Amino acid sequence: MQPAPNRPSLVPDQSPDQLPNQSADDFNTPSLSEVLRSRRHRLAQLIDFPVLLWSGTPKPRNFAANIYPFRASSHFLYFAGLPLQNAAILLGGDQLILFIDNSTPDDALWHGPTPNRDDIAQQIGAAQAYPLSELANIARGAATLGDRDETVKAMEQTLLQRGIVLQRQRPLGEKRLEKAIVRLRMIQDRGAIAAIRKALAVTIRAHKAGMAATPTAKTEAHVRAAMESVIIGENMSCAYGSIVTIAGEVLHNNHYHNALAPGDLLLADVGAETMDGWASDITRTWPVSGKFSSTQKDLYDVVLAAHDLCIEKATAGTEYKQVHLSACHTIAAGLVELGILQGNPADLVDQDAHALFFPHGVGHLMGLDVHDMEDLGDLSGYAERRGRSDRFGLAFLRLDRPLEAGMAVTIEPGFYQVPAILNDKKNRDRYANIVNWEKLEQFKDVRGIRIEDDVLITSTGNEVLSQDLPTSAQDIETLVQKL
Ligand code: GLY
Ligand code: MN
Ligand code: MN
Repeated sequence: MQPAPNRPSLVPDQSPDQLPNQSADDFNTPSLSEVLRSRRHRLAQLIDFPVLLWSGTPKPRNFAANIYPFRASSHFLYFAGLPLQNAAILLGGDQLILFIDNSTPDDALWHGPTPNRDDIAQQIGAAQAYPLSELANIARGAATLGDRDETVKAMEQTLLQRGIVLQRQRPLGEKRLEKAIVRLRMIQDRGAIAAIRKALAVTIRAHKAGMAATPTAKTEAHVRAAMESVIIGENMSCAYGSIVTIAGEVLHNNHYHNALAPGDLLLADVGAETMDGWASDITRTWPVSGKFSSTQKDLYDVVLAAHDLCIEKATAGTEYKQVHLSACHTIAAGLVELGILQGNPADLVDQDAHALFFPHGVGHLMGLDVHDMEDLGDLSGYAERRGRSDRFGLAFLRLDRPLEAGMAVTIEPGFYQVPAILNDKKNRDRYANIVNWEKLEQFKDVRGIRIEDDVLITSTGNEVLSQDLPTSAQDIETLVQKL
């Protein structure tokens, strides 16, 4: 392991919105300890009390030795950089103190040797490192994050019983700490952007592999296997449960048993996550046969028009809700042109008619979590004093803030025919004269289409981080047909 370099941070301490305007090639990726030092420094500018973050422990599936794959808490990862198990960090001023136990001979027997505490401390730039038994003495009084995070809960149950008086600090520090962390994590620094790029490079290959595997695949599971094998082969994991389905109208479908038939559209929402936890999130929809039917192509192009317009509009200073509404408007206008909706697109959006077919928000923040920081509820997604709308079509908007340089967001409009929405009597009555139900029948070979890309907001516009994966119907067909 390399000692922490003793030179100034490459990540400037000034407003991080000056960072993402440069491409990855403009400079070398900063070292882990430099990235972490800059994050600590920026945290110290926002809060003036010590903070304890816990990584979490592996969760047992059915008995203690059979565990779910371990995923460290994202808040811990942001400041510790490594997916350590059973570790805590104490942050105060610019300093980092690490608490972790060295592995025992029994651990080494079953799980192999692991780096020792001092090596890890050096790698992440910790000023001091102690066994966990010292936590109670040293971290007494530090603030912790709220208990919506399961790993923090686990920490409280295990470590607090050893007598740490963390609770006293909570009412004072917790909210301020949450807000400070949201502020930091919402604006991606150079280390974060480099990691997201790495995840995306693998995700793009996974999508291409999925498309290429489709003509010979018999089931959704076969395509999923082709996609995830690229991710696993790079020693990454999936940032969320892959969606690979011919039932694209089920928004978070996690079943893979369906057989593929030539007329089907396959919707694949699959994203790799780096070893240190950074996510990616891409969706493409392609024809199983390698050729869109004319109705599929018509609707695909409506979704693509919404996708392209949203990307054009996603710039610093723009309200993300306006980006969402521009997707709604484009979809409504496209459906009017196809004869599925009747009326003026602006009025249709005011009446939420578009939401019959596009019931979710156009995207979300992304970073260490695919829906970044949703463990803190809407604190990250919604600006202060804003809350969820109860309007059909706006209730599922996950992001309602002005966009800022350094934010990484998804743009993911879609078109879906959800039986529970379209057969609902209330909707049938409300939209009786707005939907041309007979015309809609002609488009029944489309169950769900979504096109999703990851976009970094910069000070001069934006960069589509996932742009190397094509979106046009023709390019998608070519990729599927490539055997
Ligand atoms: N992959 C989940 C989403 O796109 O929100
Ligand atoms: Mn997404
Ligand atoms: Mn997705």
